[in-house]
Amino acid sequence: MPVIIIVGAQWGDEGKGKIVDMLGEKSDMIIRFSGGDNAGHTVINDLGTFKLHLIPSGIFHKNTKCVIGNGVVINPEILIAEKKSLNDWGITTDNLIVSDKAHLVMPYHLLLDKLEEKARGKKSVGTTLRGIGPAFVDKVARVGIRAGDLQDLEGLKERLELVVKQKNCMIVGMYGATPVSFEELYDKCVQWAQVICPMIRETTIMADEVIKNGGNVLLEGAQGALLDPDFGTYPYTTSSSPLAAGACLGSGIAPTRVDQVVGIFKVYCTRVGSGPFPTELFDEIGDIIRDKAQEYGTTTGRPRRIGWFDGVAAAHSARVNGMTSAILTRLDILDILPKIRICTAYDLDGKVLHRFLSDVASLEKIKPIYEEFDGWLSDTTKITTYEDLPQKARIFIERLQDIIGCSISMACVGPSRAQAIKKDKKFF
Ligand code: GDP
Ligand code: IMO
Ligand code: MG
Repeated sequence: MPVIIIVGAQWGDEGKGKIVDMLGEKSDMIIRFSGGDNAGHTVINDLGTFKLHLIPSGIFHKNTKCVIGNGVVINPEILIAEKKSLNDWGITTDNLIVSDKAHLVMPYHLLLDKLEEKARGKKSVGTTLRGIGPAFVDKVARVGIRAGDLQDLEGLKERLELVVKQKNCMIVGMYGATPVSFEELYDKCVQWAQVICPMIRETTIMADEVIKNGGNVLLEGAQGALLDPDFGTYPYTTSSSPLAAGACLGSGIAPTRVDQVVGIFKVYCTRVGSGPFPTELFDEIGDIIRDKAQEYGTTTGRPRRIGWFDGVAAAHSARVNGMTSAILTRLDILDILPKIRICTAYDLDGKVLHRFLSDVASLEKIKPIYEEFDGWLSDTTKITTYEDLPQKARIFIERLQDIIGCSISMACVGPSRAQAIKKDKKFF
């Protein structure tokens, strides 16, 4: 006890990395369960500042087993580089484990991601170009290559040759691009196998044993609920489920074993890439927030789009995730704003709606209806207890709690591990 799922509750970049690093101290095992290196999780602790794409954010706790779960797609080049850069920094990765069932992102996936985005033209998704979509397509189409396949290079040779032929038909036939070389790719697989095979395990039994022995397990999400292919702003979504349900599938831990689902929310919203964003700010307030918070993508460096907190989307996210509590991040960013807004309903052609919409055309049309709050206009970054927060900040947080519909366990007031205020003293 307990098994806790940490999910992004908005469009990603809510601060999941910080929270997992923080809670990782008391965890026996951490499992990344979805996405791939499209994720960028920032961890700032006494060892330094790190931007992790594949390796779980708990890696800094050397006694915590850190698993890249079956639900993740792994670009071996990125994994190897990330592992090396941690090791060069003096951080051990002896506690890193890779699921045999995690699929690999191959060079042809990267190429196809680029070609497909280009072909979409004005309707491009704004992907991270990390080959994530094409890799998940192959998983479902049963032509994916899994980490476990690196353990049988002869078997892999036969399968890969066939897959490369098929991919080259698309690459050359549909897009007129340069085909990938099977020989070069196979040589890479042989090199990857040397580094990755020692980390590969069947991880679900391992997790089960930790749970049976009363250990703490954290399931680390990537992306956010509104990027979910089913419940997000499809087709402007990612390609694996960032939801709590995705955590079970992406780790092999059954829903009946899960104790808590914790949603991470920024106190405003951001989005990178294309797609509807009802509360997006196009005025100077958006720029002020972006500048103060340095809202630039961890993976791609793109400026993040900024908007007010979307309460309608937040309640939807809490519901589809079954959140037992929520954590707020970036409260300190609002310290300088005299007025702060929360969207509490949508106006669609004069009709007031309190539910999130599943079609992009309507979402693009709606006008947000806001509640306005007085800002607290004081520095919160050194505050450590909830009672010491300015009253106006507490009023804002209590209203967010009502809107989200579950208790807020913590509010963060800065990027470092220590800058977190427990609201629920019993939380973890
Ligand atoms: P993730 O993808 O959910 O792990 O989030 P990212 O790392 O992509 O982006 C979150 C950013 O917010 C990072 O730069 C964090 O260091 C930063 N951060 C997290 N919590 C806080 C907070 O409470 N205040 C401030 N100022 N920054 C925070
Ligand atoms: P973390 O884990 C923010 C977005 C991309 C794009 C869409 C599809 O750091 O929160 P993809 O490359 O997945 O096919 O792109 O999803 N996206 C993210 N946005 N944070 C992320 O991860 C993201 N991962 C994917 O910008 O709009
Ligand atoms: Mg991120």
